[in-house]
Amino acid sequence: MAKKDNGYISIKESRKIIKYNIKQMKYYESLKRAKKQESEYTTSMHNPDNIIEIQDLKTCFFTDNGTVMAVNGVSFDIPKNKIVGVVGESGCGKSVTSLSVMQLVQAPQGQVIEGQIRFNRATSADLGEGKNLAYDIVKMPTEAMYKIRGKDITMIFQEPMTSLNPVFTIGFQLDEATFIHNPETPKDKAKEYSIELLNKVGISMPEHVYNSYPHELSGGMRQRVMIAMALAGNPKLIIADEPTTALDVTIQAQILELLKEIQKKEGCSIMLITHDLGVIAEMADEVVVMYAGKVIEKGTVRDIFHNPLHPYTIGLQKSKPMLTSSGDEPLYSIPGNVPNPINLPDTCYFKNRCNKCTEKCSGSYPCEIKVSPTHTVSCWLYEEGGNK
Ligand SMILES: Nc1ncnc2c1ncn2[C@@H]1O[C@H](COP(=O)(O)OP(=O)(O)OP(=O)(O)O)[C@@H](O)[C@H]1O
Ligand SMILES: [Mg+2]
Repeated sequence: MAKKDNGYISIKESRKIIKYNIKQMKYYESLKRAKKQESEYTTSMHNPDNIIEIQDLKTCFFTDNGTVMAVNGVSFDIPKNKIVGVVGESGCGKSVTSLSVMQLVQAPQGQVIEGQIRFNRATSADLGEGKNLAYDIVKMPTEAMYKIRGKDITMIFQEPMTSLNPVFTIGFQLDEATFIHNPETPKDKAKEYSIELLNKVGISMPEHVYNSYPHELSGGMRQRVMIAMALAGNPKLIIADEPTTALDVTIQAQILELLKEIQKKEGCSIMLITHDLGVIAEMADEVVVMYAGKVIEKGTVRDIFHNPLHPYTIGLQKSKPMLTSSGDEPLYSIPGNVPNPINLPDTCYFKNRCNKCTEKCSGSYPCEIKVSPTHTVSCWLYEEGGNK
């Protein structure tokens, strides 16, 4: 279902799209509601050292203009005890990927239509084959997802003010997080734990903050409270979607430092989504570069910063302000625009903006090429025999 090239669709086509959307949405919603045995959504990890393995994930939105392929076959792993940075231009599908992991894509129009998200649910107590036990989040019914969402996998959003409820105290909201995970916890124990969490995220006078309302705190403190809340269930994975964009630069650095410290202390993994390559260089162990709903390059932070291969990654690096660049030079910007996610071409999506385009680029979408054990790129230049 696609929008016409001139941007307009006839009433007949519009009706057709709506009919198609209703059918699809009903189908995917019924899958989510269906009663399933645990064995139907249990699988095994390809590598037990990963906490999450995303494989060929496709998430789309059934809109009145056609189907938006927001995430179009994304695959990457998040290893245990590591920070994985996800970068890319606005609208490339970073948030939708993370929301798919949380089963929080705006339904019914947003649906995960293909792929696997394997979540490693093995604990250290599991032995032998238990080490490989995983849930496939794509197939998991909503009911079962409640048990891991907010506990094993938590999320820190961009805007702490909208994530905290303005009519309840910080203490009430923190205690609530504890009660959801352990309903039998006595009230005084929950308070004790909440104050311990506030201490953990570096809030001075935690007793005072416990009794405060969100509007009485600064932006940085609110984000610290959000991090404390995310820690309540002892998560294995924290997804931080641009956690510092709403904060000023000095507070940004403090929050990032705190996240790094917490990751080390708690031994969890972090999926860090950001526009800022500087933040990735500081924080991440591994980097995933996304473009128009696909992963175009991934590798260790060293691979991506010392040996960027995809022309888009190189362009992103060039568009970063440097202390060494002369002041009168304008900052580099990648020419052109991201293709329309409703009408994606069959060729490489970056082709029209690429300055290294060759004849091969008019062919099918390039496959993922492994240039080293840790570094992969999707670009025809790195196919055997391509001009680098
Ligand atoms: N609820 C929705 N309905 C329709 N399309 C949507 C919806 N949410 C996201 N999209 C589309 O999905 C695509 C990916 O969006 P996403 O929010 O993941 O981008 P992003 O990489 O997080 O961008 P940003 O850096 O601006 O946060 C975009 O083309 C967007 O228009
Ligand atoms: Mg986003």
